[in-house]
Amino acid sequence: DKIQPTVFVIFGGTGDLNARKLAPALYNLYLEGWLPEQFSIIGTGRSKLSDGEFREKLLNDINQFSRTGKVAPEKWDVFCQHLYYQVADVNNADTYKEFGNRIQQHESEWKTKANVIYYLAVAPNFFPIIAENIAKSKLGAAADRVRIVVEKPIGHDLKSAQELNQLLMRLFEERQIYRIDHYLGKETVQNIMAFRFANSLLEPLWNRNYIDHVQISVTEQLGVGDRAGYYDGSGALRDMIQNHLLQLLCLVAMEPPINFNADEVRNRKVDVLRAMRRFSPEDVRLSTVRGQYASGWIEGKEVPGYRQERDANPDSNTETFAAVKFFVDNWRWQGVPFYLRTGKRMHQSSSVITIQFKDVPHSVFPAESAEGGHQNRLIISIQPEMSIRLQMQAKRPGLEMILNTVDMVFDYKGTYTTQAPEAYETLLLDTMLGDQTLFMRGDQVEAAWDLIMPILNTWQNRKSLNFPNYSADSWGPESAEALIARDGFHWFTLPLNGKK
Ligand code: BG6
Repeated sequence: DKIQPTVFVIFGGTGDLNARKLAPALYNLYLEGWLPEQFSIIGTGRSKLSDGEFREKLLNDINQFSRTGKVAPEKWDVFCQHLYYQVADVNNADTYKEFGNRIQQHESEWKTKANVIYYLAVAPNFFPIIAENIAKSKLGAAADRVRIVVEKPIGHDLKSAQELNQLLMRLFEERQIYRIDHYLGKETVQNIMAFRFANSLLEPLWNRNYIDHVQISVTEQLGVGDRAGYYDGSGALRDMIQNHLLQLLCLVAMEPPINFNADEVRNRKVDVLRAMRRFSPEDVRLSTVRGQYASGWIEGKEVPGYRQERDANPDSNTETFAAVKFFVDNWRWQGVPFYLRTGKRMHQSSSVITIQFKDVPHSVFPAESAEGGHQNRLIISIQPEMSIRLQMQAKRPGLEMILNTVDMVFDYKGTYTTQAPEAYETLLLDTMLGDQTLFMRGDQVEAAWDLIMPILNTWQNRKSLNFPNYSADSWGPESAEALIARDGFHWFTLPLNGKK
């Protein structure tokens, strides 16, 4: 598709998201020839910077954070001509008038109307005022050409998410609203759909008859760092499960869409969320675990406990680990548990989906020759290893009949020489192309909140916690092991660099 002349307006232009993700992604899109000849990027913020200072700042950021390494000066010299800065007070109508003027200037220079993308890379409390002011200044009226991008958190609970959606949908059309869940832009995550729906081999097995359970595990070695100001009011369930992990679950559990259109795909995904079993307070007790990290050591470095992190409440009961056993009540998945877990300061940083197939109905081999049950697994490793593995039983070479587990591996590194794009490159390009497939529709966000509200509410009412309850560099609280061990399994981990 040809990309129209485009003006990006980035609110939070001097902020962290632009520095780490947006600017490097835009630069890489430029390098790979995806940006139209006529484009401009206007960063805005409260700091008083000149265009030159802004360019200098982004040069440093891109040098530091781009996956392609340091910029080539001759490329930068051209790219940076497209970067501008405007001091902005988001509360002030004049700011938006100024944007309007700048956009018009570009358009008259380019002798054509431009697509305009407003990227709200700011704290969520600024979303309403910015959205209102864009609409009030008539900067959002051309629905075909104007898009607005928001990042999570989309609300703090169901009610606030509904309010934000209502506000956005009053001011813009849904087709203009791009709600980012950056996991959906990850290369390996996009491949879940390709893998499921471009192969006929899997579909007959992809149901309750052959699958015992599914695990979705997203663990991080990092702590909250300097984000406790936000995180302390959020926690792992809101920060990760409400969005990223449930989206992964939807991709695994969805019915085949009839085509790859944005709304068709999103309809099938939201069906999954609607089919998920709601929790009673008793279910919350039996099927959820929360934890908070204590101080400890990570790779030879001493790290503080969560309550000692900057801006965390010293008595905080915010969870930095959550594990939940979900069910999807439909024909395909009835009775199949989906175990989700996520945590910070854990032993490994890795995101892995494990599809555990049922055991063979009857083992013909003598017990001492086999490794035991649980013979087949499909392991979709999202990061850091990018791979899909199918675990099978095979005969070990030798004179005896002894079986062991072997992996059939599709490994991105061994298969492709090209480097995968960053999630934000994919998502920014899709925003320019007007393709919403990998973005969250309002109803998806609300369905996910609706599902987790009973858990949040029950947790809120049950405060007698024994926090902190897991040490840094562990796999989380022991009760998380018990959650899955009760059903006869354990959390699967992929050995990484010899680290299990
Ligand atoms: C963000 C969360 O959405 O995702 C962070 O707010 C988390 O707490 C991050 O660290 C993880 O993303 P990634 O891409 O590093 O796995």
